[in-house]
Amino acid sequence: MCGIIGYIGKRKAIPILIQGLERLEYRGYDSAGVACLPIAKFDRSTDGQEGSGSIHPRFCVYKERGKIAQLKSRINHGFPDAHIGIGHTRWATHGAPSKVNAHPHLGPRGQIALVHNGIVENYDELKSELKRKGSRFKSETDTEVAAHLIESYYHGDLAQAMRLAAKRIKGFFAFVAIARSEPGRICALKRSNPLVVGIGRGEHFIASDVSALLSYTKNVIYLEDNELVELKSDSIRVTRIGSRKRLKKKVSRVDWSVEEAQKGGFRHFMLKEIYEQPRVLEEILEKRAVGKNTIEFDTISAKIQSRLKHTDKIYMVSCGTAYHAGLVGDYLFEDEQLARIPAEAHVSSEFRYSAPLIGRNDAAIFITQSGETADTLAALRQAKKRGVLTIGIVNVVGSTIAREADAVIYTHAGPEIGVASTKAYLAQLMTLSLLSAYLGVLRGRLSKSQLEKFVREAKQLPRKVSEILQNQSAIDQAARALYRKGHFLYLGRGYNFPNALEGALKLKEITYAHAHGYAAGEMKHGPIALIDSEQPVVCLAPRKSRTYDKMLSNIEEIHARQGIIISIATENDQMIKRRSRFIFWIPNTLEQFSPILTAVPLQLFAYKVAVLNCRDVDQPRNLAKSVTVE
Ligand code: M6R
Repeated sequence: MCGIIGYIGKRKAIPILIQGLERLEYRGYDSAGVACLPIAKFDRSTDGQEGSGSIHPRFCVYKERGKIAQLKSRINHGFPDAHIGIGHTRWATHGAPSKVNAHPHLGPRGQIALVHNGIVENYDELKSELKRKGSRFKSETDTEVAAHLIESYYHGDLAQAMRLAAKRIKGFFAFVAIARSEPGRICALKRSNPLVVGIGRGEHFIASDVSALLSYTKNVIYLEDNELVELKSDSIRVTRIGSRKRLKKKVSRVDWSVEEAQKGGFRHFMLKEIYEQPRVLEEILEKRAVGKNTIEFDTISAKIQSRLKHTDKIYMVSCGTAYHAGLVGDYLFEDEQLARIPAEAHVSSEFRYSAPLIGRNDAAIFITQSGETADTLAALRQAKKRGVLTIGIVNVVGSTIAREADAVIYTHAGPEIGVASTKAYLAQLMTLSLLSAYLGVLRGRLSKSQLEKFVREAKQLPRKVSEILQNQSAIDQAARALYRKGHFLYLGRGYNFPNALEGALKLKEITYAHAHGYAAGEMKHGPIALIDSEQPVVCLAPRKSRTYDKMLSNIEEIHARQGIIISIATENDQMIKRRSRFIFWIPNTLEQFSPILTAVPLQLFAYKVAVLNCRDVDQPRNLAKSVTVE
């Protein structure tokens, strides 16, 4: 996790670093800091260290515990005129969230300043070695160890010192560093964790992701693993860590606007992103469902198409909400009305340490919003080693998983900033639905007329999601009545079992209430013991479903035990209405699309409960948007 940024150019560095950090805050927000090299003497006392009598100014370092706002209010009292600097927003791994553990960290003589995203796995061993040589550490972090290590190799050439240090470091990282005696150069290197260079006129930027750069430039270079970049205001030099040969790097153009990455009048990013869902679905359909009975995936080449045609089995590998999308994918791919391919959804952190019987004729799909999730990335790399076809279903363009998979299908949800995934989830569900129909056609299971019916219904979904968004009074009522409850159960079957898990995840991550999702058929095997007149149970029961009657029986059972039933049901379903304390209506749709509709009231309910509890909706405690550590 953690967000890092660097700037070199003619403008004042500090405001640029702070603004960049605000955009990266979703990656971690327990402490933040910046370091810069002022161009003139600056008298204000700082957290920086005294240099060793060099003519170069010493670093000015500012750090605060908590969010960027804290750091900003301190810096607003006055900051030095500097044209080079680095910044960091932290999600603690080694050492508690505190000012002293916040980055940047300096070397022992204050010669270099370093920010880091990742983990130095052998930091203990390196720390003991450096201590024996005289290093004294102020923080508990692995990053300070890396700063001391780099400085121990530093003899006037920062890039060289970083190359040598990288050879000693086990683990994964993105490092950005500046040296006191080289005020015209930023050096950065990466192994596993993302770094992107922003190209300006007479200025350059580097950050964990493009959202930090969008106000300044749309021209970027994505760094690959084991690449080192040296940035001056007028040049960029990229080399491999182990070589000095300059690499030719492709410049990419980012098409997200700054506005797209901002709140646009909504109280929270999460709410804005929930409201963007009809548009997101529309865009996916415009791109993929081009004719009345044609589905296109422009990034699936003829070669990949032919491998997919003969694939024995599809594995879907992902984490959190994206895992729930994988579970829906499981039902979609195996559906006898669609592709009818054996499919299995796995949690990435389990998959990467298991020994799945995955064959060369199988395909593995990695579903991820960020494209940077550490476990999903590790699972992808393993699958590639086994020679299976790998496909990324990814939101963030140019992210590591997007680049490393054999093929990438972008979900086109736009930037998702709220930690709780909403529009990215719906985009994943829509993409998987269309992919399963596409494979159904490819494998000769779905006729043109069946596809036409499927596409026709898909095209109604943006309007149907809008309808749900327009009528939230029942959701408001339920949230007001139940927001103090500490325990919730979520039940669903078939296509809506994954959404029972997703509804529970959404509620717990942003409200901190305990919530548990179950396959409704499992009720009698234990959870029914929880039901009494105080227990809220959210029941997902859309009408068009193979298991509708079974779900109705489950609702009866909860009703008989006086449980508080909150149902998500198809408009005008009086049977369910009679037994429910609260009912959230959804329009009728095909069973295969029902998770796209049932997800929306679940998101809104979690959001409203969180707001009533005054929770930090967009940045819930202990979480980060992009989980780049195991
Ligand atoms: O970026 P990814 O889709 O790979 O992230 C996976 C999970 O970390 C993510 O879905 C997480 O569970 C969200 N906080 C859920 O709202």
